[in-house]
Amino acid sequence: MWNFACPLIVYGDNALDYLAQVKGKKAFLVTDKNIVKLGLTKPVTDQLDAKNIKWQIFDEVEPEPSLETIKKGGIAVGKYQPDWVIGIGGGSCMDAAKAIILLLARPELEPEALSVLEEFNFREKARLMEIPTTSGTGSEASWAIVLTDTKDNRKLGLGTPEVMPDVAILDPVMVMGMPPQITADSGMDVICQAIEGYISTWGTSMTAGPGLIATRLTLDYLPRAYKNGNDLEARKEMMYAATMGGMCGSNSMFGLGHGTGHALGGIFHVPHGRTVGLFLPYTMEYMINGSEETTAKFAEIARYCRVTSGSDKECAKLLVAKIRALAKEIRQPLSVKDCGIDKAKYEKEIPSLIDRALNEVMTMTAPRVPGAEDLGKIFNYAYAGKSIDF
Ligand SMILES: [Fe+2]
Repeated sequence: MWNFACPLIVYGDNALDYLAQVKGKKAFLVTDKNIVKLGLTKPVTDQLDAKNIKWQIFDEVEPEPSLETIKKGGIAVGKYQPDWVIGIGGGSCMDAAKAIILLLARPELEPEALSVLEEFNFREKARLMEIPTTSGTGSEASWAIVLTDTKDNRKLGLGTPEVMPDVAILDPVMVMGMPPQITADSGMDVICQAIEGYISTWGTSMTAGPGLIATRLTLDYLPRAYKNGNDLEARKEMMYAATMGGMCGSNSMFGLGHGTGHALGGIFHVPHGRTVGLFLPYTMEYMINGSEETTAKFAEIARYCRVTSGSDKECAKLLVAKIRALAKEIRQPLSVKDCGIDKAKYEKEIPSLIDRALNEVMTMTAPRVPGAEDLGKIFNYAYAGKSIDF
């Protein structure tokens, strides 16, 4: 038995007007200081004011939110007792909103216990809305929560299907101001989630559709959104692609690009989208070398994206080349070395990178699961920018 979960998705021009239909008395907004400074909370609070819904802002979310920040947010939300929690921002703010609404229901829990092992029933108290200001993680349409344990320098993959948001509002005014670097980093996450969700051993026909479309939209529109932030059509399509990539990946499972990228990001603090996008072509090559079935799936994606050339293997390889060309066009690193990571420091951390990647569920759901030896080689090849030949 499988299930496909996603929120009510309100999208397109003036999507924020949906707030006029919301019923409730108090909203707790989870965001960061930069989003407030950019004025991106204002269109939301204006709508809430018009409805006489009281609101309070918690703006202390940092990139890769820490357990301490979530604890703070949990205390604040407990005092305020809202009937809506609204995450406004990128993946970090949206994930933080999910964690905080879970603590509203279970204030006695430590943030690291916010997992499928617990029952929350938070909707007896409040509902969850997410409003993305980046086009990347698709957190608005997933139940995943990524937090950082700053003591162990480790990212924690948490969450429970219960915390799938009730509503996601995709309004282009919220993403128009995204700087090129964030557009590029978050855009690479979209294509990685879409492709990995498509080939995942937990993928089905239900998850394949959004994965295919998200991949094609990213190839078509990410360079445009990167080069001209005012390109409304490109911004809109990337916003939809991000949500569909999230729907695909979170209803199947992400793969080895995420397993290895998470490991690198956890140790060297490279942004999530940049790391997973960096490892995507290498891990695709690893799959192509070991699985005809997965190669055929890559070929399906390639043909849908009009990247075609003869046999399945040729199409799959062309898709890898197309992703490298996309990364180059939007000035993303093509190797770990390009990230500015020192070789000696990196080599010292390889055992730890392998250990972390082996412990990621996402590594296990990839169609070809590497052991420690292959992982070590993948990390070395990715540093040097060398295509995977094993
Ligand atoms: Fe991701």
